[in-house]
Amino acid sequence: MNIVIFGSGAIGSLFGALLSNKNNVILYGRKPHVDVINREGLKIDGKTIFHKKLLATSNIKEIKTNIDLLILSVKSYDTDMALKEIEKIIDDNTILLTIQNGLDNVEKIKNEFKHKQIICGVTTHGSIFVKPGFILHTGIGATVLGELNGVVSKRIKNIVDLFNNSGIITKYSNDIEKEIWIKAIINSSINPLTTIFKCRNGYLLKNPILFNTVKFICYESVRIANSEGVNINPDDIFNKTKEVINDTSDNYSSMLQSYKKYKKTEINSINGTLIERGKKRNIDTTLNEILTLLVN
Ligand SMILES: NC(=O)c1ccc[n+]([C@@H]2O[C@H](COP(=O)([O-])OP(=O)(O)OC[C@H]3O[C@@H](n4cnc5c(N)ncnc54)[C@H](OP(=O)(O)O)[C@@H]3O)[C@@H](O)[C@H]2O)c1
Repeated sequence: MNIVIFGSGAIGSLFGALLSNKNNVILYGRKPHVDVINREGLKIDGKTIFHKKLLATSNIKEIKTNIDLLILSVKSYDTDMALKEIEKIIDDNTILLTIQNGLDNVEKIKNEFKHKQIICGVTTHGSIFVKPGFILHTGIGATVLGELNGVVSKRIKNIVDLFNNSGIITKYSNDIEKEIWIKAIINSSINPLTTIFKCRNGYLLKNPILFNTVKFICYESVRIANSEGVNINPDDIFNKTKEVINDTSDNYSSMLQSYKKYKKTEINSINGTLIERGKKRNIDTTLNEILTLLVN
């Protein structure tokens, strides 16, 4: 399969590297990263060990192949800009897969491309962009993919197989939008608090005030999701959130990592979109508003 990774940073480079073992992969990303990859190869350390030359470019005009699968892996705040570039390189036969976090990406993609071209995914792998050409795979996670309409189609099964055959443990879902909501709710409850308190994820379980706050945020976010008809059990999600905190207790959340690097965070796409959706349905969004205010 011809695969383009659009936004080859932490997670895109990792997936691109793994998929490159059995597919033709082009990494599209920023020049400093691409230059090192072309010169010395892409190096991955941690849970995946990889060091190989891959096709990589920062010039969209250099991508001339027919793309079977394009994986969108820019941060949510870059989605609009990315879609404008993607338009130039894909055709009606290209499958567009987003593996981004956040609640507004799918909507943005739907506005620009045919719905039948789009598939969605969530992944709990942990990956860090250490420096150009060098990625650290910090945690092996699970990946779930699905069609927008929930159908378990032949192509979704094929792509799931392709991922599994490349070492990315993946399953399909018949309700991928719910999976995206679940990930966003968990992120809404962990990431901003760790950013505000500059702490590792695990501190949220140790500090009783923060632990209670996590619970209240989680419940508020679930009420918003359920007002949109998502149908999530608040206690299940709170338990899942505790599990995620426990499993990642030594980690700094991606939001805190961005904050420390003086980069933008994805808070507007996560808590910000929750606020937007909640307000439309007259659901209280106070906690998400406070978090967004403090992080932004
Ligand atoms: N990292 C993880 O472990 C992980 C796990 C699950 C999900 N995710 C989600 O996956 C998405 C990507 O996360 P990430 O951590 O991989 O972010 P990242 O390391 O910042 O990677 C995105 C890369 O895309 C580049 N980029 C943005 N716009 C571009 C454009 N128009 N053309 C070329 N390159 C462009 C960025 O460059 P600049 O930084 O220079 O803008 C960056 O190098 C996010 O939604 C995140 O929440 C990440």
